Amino acid sequence: MCRPAVKCRRGSCSRTCSRRSDSYLPALVPEQFPIAVLVSGTGTNLQALLDTVHERDARIVAVASSAPDAPALARARERGVATEVFARGDYSDREARDDALAGWLLERGARLVVLAGYMELLGSPFLERFPRAVINVHPSLLPAFPGLHAIEQALDYGVKVFGVTVHFVDAGVDTGPVILQRALELPNAADPEQVLAALRPLEHSLLPEAVSLLARGAVRADGRNPRRVEVDRAALTDRL
Ligand code: GRF
Repeated sequence: MCRPAVKCRRGSCSRTCSRRSDSYLPALVPEQFPIAVLVSGTGTNLQALLDTVHERDARIVAVASSAPDAPALARARERGVATEVFARGDYSDREARDDALAGWLLERGARLVVLAGYMELLGSPFLERFPRAVINVHPSLLPAFPGLHAIEQALDYGVKVFGVTVHFVDAGVDTGPVILQRALELPNAADPEQVLAALRPLEHSLLPEAVSLLARGAVRADGRNPRRVEVDRAALTDRL
């Protein structure tokens, strides 16, 4: 049953509510789930989140950048979202930077951290402060082509099907459990810029979908296989 403090999004105290107990994020789902977005560059994925889930399923309470000149920062400020820069050069080492970053995000009340073109690795101490609550969008069908230059890697390999993955972040490079994936056939692709342009709309729909699913408690761990993430897409029927 729903606890009295929980406002059920579906308007009823149903089976869906009680199933939230083993969902990836905590059972109590506030009206607008507080999330933070980490960026380093252009910020088109941040923009997609600002245009879709922000002030609906989620509230972006903080945007942090590793680069002071990232155009993404202006997108956040335009919507009145708090921003901060955590450049590696300003700290003694990565751990000190991660510690300051995590502290600021927690101060802002973030419960989910979304990496949207964040070009830095996050160490285990950071991840432990946001258990099972850091996600990333990557422009390949993982586990193929992790890390930098995923599209170039895929073109060099000669694949005909490209795609996008949203996954949980663990201590490896693009190795965490997959939440959502979407594929795109591009049998004659040769130019990375064209592939990126074709993948952009997939990224810009898949990442907000994953955030909404998490905000609605519709993402669960498979108790028998920790790699497998169960997603209740029916939770998005009003959005799809
Ligand atoms: C995207 O292609 C994303 O998949 C990757 O970094 C890029 C960020 O682009 N992780 P943007 O800054 O959101 O425009």
